[in-house]
Amino acid sequence: MNIIVTGASRGIGYEVARKFAAGKNNNVLVISRNKERLMALKQKCLEVSPEAKLLVLPFDLENLEGIEGDLRDNIFKHFSSLDVLINNAGLLIKKPVMDLTAGDVNRMMTVNFLAPMVMVQALMPLLEKAGGSHVVNIGSMAGVQGCKKFPGLSAYSASKAAVHVLTECLAEEFKDSSVRFNALAFGVVQTEMLAEAFPGLEAPLKASAMAAFVQEFALNGQRYFNGKTLPVSISTP
Ligand SMILES: NC(=O)c1ccc[n+]([C@@H]2O[C@H](COP(=O)([O-])OP(=O)(O)OC[C@H]3O[C@@H](n4cnc5c(N)ncnc54)[C@H](OP(=O)(O)O)[C@@H]3O)[C@@H](O)[C@H]2O)c1
Repeated sequence: MNIIVTGASRGIGYEVARKFAAGKNNNVLVISRNKERLMALKQKCLEVSPEAKLLVLPFDLENLEGIEGDLRDNIFKHFSSLDVLINNAGLLIKKPVMDLTAGDVNRMMTVNFLAPMVMVQALMPLLEKAGGSHVVNIGSMAGVQGCKKFPGLSAYSASKAAVHVLTECLAEEFKDSSVRFNALAFGVVQTEMLAEAFPGLEAPLKASAMAAFVQEFALNGQRYFNGKTLPVSISTP
């Protein structure tokens, strides 16, 4: 099985990549900016399973043209089909709305919403080739209407709402294909992102626990859901 996980240098993406890399027949391609951390992830995977196949592609997903250029070319060199794409990379800049700059908003919209869309545009031929593949976009309860909102997260929450709606629309546009699209709206999970945004807050879930759910959902959720945003939270109404 061929799998891509974005944002695998730390947090939930790191744990998701580790879990997939433990599967004997899996080729896992991991993307994020920090090459050293991705290489450390690879080393860890090899320590656990010496036959693990993990391909490291350091890349900045804010470079949307590069996704359709160099990144796409590199991925096509390694994979002739793609079974699972997990658009997990995320950026959170916490600021009161009056302090947010257009640049801040642009960066969050790019990483959290546009990059997942451009990844799908670039990789659709590989996804269609696999037959029954699954795109899982990582959203947030912060982007679900009616759920508790937090000061400082206006643009972040809006970018997550955008990726939820995008997921629904992708399912509609590609309903005649074999590819399925779903989003997972996470509640709080103990990661560096959470610790940086909410110092001292203790989340009820560790990254590895959430990763176990993501892996299971990525492998089987497409049999039951398409175009859906599932709340994955035990702490938010
Ligand atoms: N933790 C929570 O409580 C929580 C709650 C709801 C939703 N989420 C969502 O869950 C996902 C994972 O969150 P997390 O807590 O594990 O976050 P994290 O610890 O901050 O990890 C984010 C990952 O995204 C990558 N990334 C950020 N900007 C990037 C860019 N421009 N290009 C490539 N990669 C980039 C980072 O890698 P580099 O820095 O190496 O590029 C890192 O690997 C995110 O989408 C987040 O919004 C998290």
